[in-house]
Amino acid sequence: MLSKKAKNITPSLTIGISTKVKELIDQGLDIINLSIGEPNFCTPTPAKEAAVESIYTNKAKYGPASGITELRKTIIHKLKTENNISYQLDEIVVSSGAKHAITNALIALINPGDEVLIPKPYWVSYPEMIKLVGGNPVFLDTKMKNNFKMTTEDIIDVITPKTKMIFITNPSNPTGAVYSKEELKSIVNLCIQHNIFILADEIYERICYKDNFISIASLSEKAKNITITINGLSKSAAMTGWRIGYTAANQTISKAISAIQGHLTSHPCVISQYGAIKALNSCQEDIQTMVLNYKKKRDIALNMLEKIKDISFIKPNGAFYVFIDISSLKNKLKYNDYFSISFANQLLEQEKVAVVPGVAFGMDDFIRISYACDNDTLIEGIKRISSFINNL
Ligand SMILES: Cc1ncc(COP(=O)(O)O)c(C=O)c1O
Repeated sequence: MLSKKAKNITPSLTIGISTKVKELIDQGLDIINLSIGEPNFCTPTPAKEAAVESIYTNKAKYGPASGITELRKTIIHKLKTENNISYQLDEIVVSSGAKHAITNALIALINPGDEVLIPKPYWVSYPEMIKLVGGNPVFLDTKMKNNFKMTTEDIIDVITPKTKMIFITNPSNPTGAVYSKEELKSIVNLCIQHNIFILADEIYERICYKDNFISIASLSEKAKNITITINGLSKSAAMTGWRIGYTAANQTISKAISAIQGHLTSHPCVISQYGAIKALNSCQEDIQTMVLNYKKKRDIALNMLEKIKDISFIKPNGAFYVFIDISSLKNKLKYNDYFSISFANQLLEQEKVAVVPGVAFGMDDFIRISYACDNDTLIEGIKRISSFINNL
């Protein structure tokens, strides 16, 4: 009955875990949820008010396929002032979340059989999105000693004549690693040399604990021309359910994305777009407060995790996750196919703590925890992880 594409897709493990956790909480169980990839803050009030106003002033009819002009102009201003990149209006397309923006870019550029490079560990949806458009995901290994950031040596090994695109998630989900300017420059140079497009997923850009976040497209005109920057409001402005993301790309690519979107969804929700304008224009302080808060939570988490024996991790400089190496515990726990899934399941059963198994990110020796939760939950969750590991 189902198409080959549908049969070929693995359901999202992270969404699956969230659903299971919600069911357990609804059953009254005391679950500590460290699996969520979602800010624990509320959307800033001015954004909510702007959205409500758009409803009551009847500004909620069909709009332009690439997003309302005022929002695209606001995004252009943001990219210029914060990232030092100049874009024109027809180079920005607003979509229904970053996920949709990525999918649009893939439909616009990938032909069946094209290879798309994904550094490991990767965000869970990339391979499935690539398969859905007929492309072949090609995984490339990174090293923990390089903070899981890919180097040109890692990339060269997997380039073939079919390589069309490479994904970079910066800051990374799941590791929180942030690339330096020099690291990005060498990757961009290699991509220019081999005619490879860069899909720069910068959705966590604002949640960065270093001062010098560099957006890849800002490196040079050539870099800008081969890069499709993905960003949005979900993580930075705590607007996950509003579904606002965007692509910034050259005119040819943006025109194609706009045409694709026009047929598939018309455009993202207009009410959310009005909220997004306000969030980008007037909520800087709210966003800064959130980031300072995440940084404190990161430090609490790292301080506690450092004291647990037999695990290791890299220090995250962005996003709100810690990717924890649990491979030393392999001989202490019974498992069948996937060690990280068994670990996560047993942790949930015994200590009522939900984490995401590393296999969801292509690395079975790890688990990912999120510290986007209140401090008491975070502290209690890590205490329980510690006692689970001690009792193995
Ligand atoms: C790396 C990365 N890219 C994209 C997304 C999707 O963002 P959105 O909710 O705006 O679709 C996520 C969400 O978890 C993510 O972690």
